[in-house]
Amino acid sequence: MIQTKFFICLALGLMASFARAEQFQFKNYRLVNLLPETPVHVQLISEWEENAEFDVWTRIKGTNERVTVLLSPDAFLKYSLLFKLFKIPNSIVEEDIQARIDEQQRSMVLTKSQKSIVGKFARYSEIISYIDNLALQNSDIVSSYVAGTTYENRNLKVAIIKTPASKKKVWIDCGIHAREWMTPSTCIWIINKLVTGYQNFEPEVVQLLNYYEFHIMPLQNPDGYEYSHTTYRLWRKNRRPIRGNCIGVDLNRNYGYKWMTGGSSDQPCSDIYAGPSADSEAETQAVENYINKYKGDWATFLTIHTYGQWWFTSWGYTYDDPPEYDDLKAKAKIATDALKAVNGTVFTYGSSAQILYIASGGSDDWAVGNAGIKYSFCLELRPGQTGIDSNYGFTLPEDRAPMVGEETYAGIVALVKSLMP
Ligand code: ARG
Ligand code: ZN
Repeated sequence: MIQTKFFICLALGLMASFARAEQFQFKNYRLVNLLPETPVHVQLISEWEENAEFDVWTRIKGTNERVTVLLSPDAFLKYSLLFKLFKIPNSIVEEDIQARIDEQQRSMVLTKSQKSIVGKFARYSEIISYIDNLALQNSDIVSSYVAGTTYENRNLKVAIIKTPASKKKVWIDCGIHAREWMTPSTCIWIINKLVTGYQNFEPEVVQLLNYYEFHIMPLQNPDGYEYSHTTYRLWRKNRRPIRGNCIGVDLNRNYGYKWMTGGSSDQPCSDIYAGPSADSEAETQAVENYINKYKGDWATFLTIHTYGQWWFTSWGYTYDDPPEYDDLKAKAKIATDALKAVNGTVFTYGSSAQILYIASGGSDDWAVGNAGIKYSFCLELRPGQTGIDSNYGFTLPEDRAPMVGEETYAGIVALVKSLMP
């Protein structure tokens, strides 16, 4: 008996150390910028984007628009020949992305001893406890709701901040894409600002919460998020096994409005796999059901990604202007001006298809098309495509989180104020 226990402990111990050792290493993975110059270049890159080995960080848009892709040493050998053959201008912007990942890890070690998770890249269980404790300690304004569970049985938790006077609802979700670590930290930052602001009688927050209730889901893809922490830093999709070795659906291609009408893939191994059918994923269904439960109550729907420094309106599935585009742009201008006022961070605004690329099945389009929420925006936080920190992409160090949280909060506050009667 004692022996069995001993062996179980030994086995668990070994598994734990293997789990650490099993972190996938992106040693000498190169981040490469491409500049397609001809329609042929665009066509080629679009085809390569379907391949799992061609990990696009910034998708193809058109000629003379930059594409950023992460290539393993093998993939680099293969594609650099093709770049040469087809004369596609290219430049290596990062020789070894693992070095950036390590730098990000070091930035997190520095804050490990701090008890609060505000401004940090916290783990799933820390985020859940944070919300639960917040609700316990601020039961007058904070509550939480489990909107669903994931394939790996994690909770999709919504933090609700409201007063008896709140009239309209604001939706904010973060972490739909696992590797975008700057976004859950930003949702937490926003929650903290609202709760502490209200409890400290800050007039702006009191005024806000007398009109709005905030429904914030900091982790829309907790399975993928945990996997990106434990095993594969650059994971994007959820973790549901699909076929063979192919795991995961891109949740932002799975929403049931104009599903699979462009910019998404029917190949389960693709990073932009749209799922076997529209709304096939538990995470998608949880958000849709929650939004539908309060149909008509939503003042705005905000879904937060990183990176690029964009404040997107719909549509994503078509180049057409969304309904009342001028008004949406006016509101996006108010938000991005307020965001910029904090640290000087410049966001570009407009329809995501027009600015970036066509991508269907996004939650922002669903919010407009199915749920009828006019003010639906998709944010892409720091870093930008060019300029300071741009070569970090998803590996931006943790010490940027407070600044990103603060400026995003300011943008959102300005937006929702502009939507008040
Ligand atoms: N980078 C985001 C994505 O690829 C942008 C989504 C914009 N919205 C959209 N519906 N296409 O998922
Ligand atoms: Zn994203």
